[in-house]
Amino acid sequence: MEDSNLLEEAKKLLENSIVEYEGKPIGTLAAKDKSTKALNYNQIFIRDFAVSAFAFLFNGNHEIVKNFLEITLKLQSREEVMDCFLPAKGLMPASFKVSFKKGEKLVPDYGEKAIARVAPVDSVFWWLYILRAYVKKTDDWDFVHDKECQLAIKLILKLSLINRFDMFPTLLVPDGSFMIDRRMGVYGYPLEIQALFYTALLSAKELLTQNDENKIYFENIDKRLGHLVYHIRKYFWLDFKMLNKIYRFSIEEYNENALNQFNIFPESIPVWIFNWLGDDDGYFVGDLGPSRMDFRFFTAGNLLMIINSLADKKQSNAILKLISNRQKELVGEMPVKICYPALSGKEWKLLTGHDPKNIPWSYHNGGSWPVLMWNIAAAFVKMKKMDYLKRIIKIAEERLSKDNYPEYYDGMHNKLVGKEARSMQTWSIAGYIIAKTLLIEPEKLNILTFDESPEILSRAKNNGKELDY
Ligand code: GLC
Repeated sequence: MEDSNLLEEAKKLLENSIVEYEGKPIGTLAAKDKSTKALNYNQIFIRDFAVSAFAFLFNGNHEIVKNFLEITLKLQSREEVMDCFLPAKGLMPASFKVSFKKGEKLVPDYGEKAIARVAPVDSVFWWLYILRAYVKKTDDWDFVHDKECQLAIKLILKLSLINRFDMFPTLLVPDGSFMIDRRMGVYGYPLEIQALFYTALLSAKELLTQNDENKIYFENIDKRLGHLVYHIRKYFWLDFKMLNKIYRFSIEEYNENALNQFNIFPESIPVWIFNWLGDDDGYFVGDLGPSRMDFRFFTAGNLLMIINSLADKKQSNAILKLISNRQKELVGEMPVKICYPALSGKEWKLLTGHDPKNIPWSYHNGGSWPVLMWNIAAAFVKMKKMDYLKRIIKIAEERLSKDNYPEYYDGMHNKLVGKEARSMQTWSIAGYIIAKTLLIEPEKLNILTFDESPEILSRAKNNGKELDY
């Protein structure tokens, strides 16, 4: 099929996945695949819809995005509860569906029905990101300034800024609380959540109404953004120079000026990293907590940090360099791996709980997800590297449509259609639409990106202690 026909085909398929409620389009199904058990793939996921929403906004279909935002506002939990089985005030569901039992109604799932009962930490952050993209595209400030919308933003800020059992700027979260919604050793301070959290705070800063009552929110958003920039740029960053420092770290330092702040044991450095990391590239590690540096490369988090400027220019270029240096593994036959390398052996047993869906090089454990083409495209366009993006899209176009837009691919080089992958996976379709559209009309990118802010950077210097390894 011609390239332009592929884009038209994908747009039609995205339309086909639309769900209506009370006669209005309100979202998209996760997958429109009748050949396998639906499980929850017949629902509207907030994280999946974010990708559809960006594609709809690019194509001028603003109505569905506004309807979605209105509907989900009503699904945000508004009760102050001390009941462990109820969603916390401010939480948004991972997914919801339109049910016709006893009349048409919306049925949300905050984790109480989800496989393994995983609750979403990311939904609220994706929601703010969608809202920001929507208003950036439409200028519909009346909607944003409405009481309900303002309340939703403040509840999300309270939920993520107030109550916690922690002393880091990064967010402490359980395993499987985002795109990787199964046990994968991604508990603690996973990069993707930190990148989303940062995006959400930047969004809230733009969306909250400027008034005296909101001063306290603005102050705390700014403070946290500064702490996050400092912490993540400094401690999550890994290049060869840094690796060498970690390799020679002293341990058991008890004082405020410790260089090895998190007591990382050099013995925990995995051997694969020495050959994998090039002299001219680098990336943000997957997770960082007490005596724990997860050296795996997680694609979504790293690319989001380019998109929202949490990574500085040098770091952004180094990440893109790493992706092109490691094209065989990360892009292979279909873009792009969710993480590298796969967990295997005893590590797989312990960290996934023997999960047969997440065997090495499959699904969340080193599988390849076409949806991530939107992150790839946004990051490469932002850094003005169109040629490489062109090559990646060409690789995807060889198979995506022929394979019926699978949810994911398996194997070391992303050659196999995923073992249990759904077909007609909506975010694979939307991911492709975004990538292809950005290649043709790169100016459309501005609704998704954030510029580096000198104000935030100045706070990063003031708040953090200047420590050099
Ligand atoms: C799977 C994915 C999750 C996605 C959902 C719907 O559970 O792990 O990230 O949101 O499917 O597509």
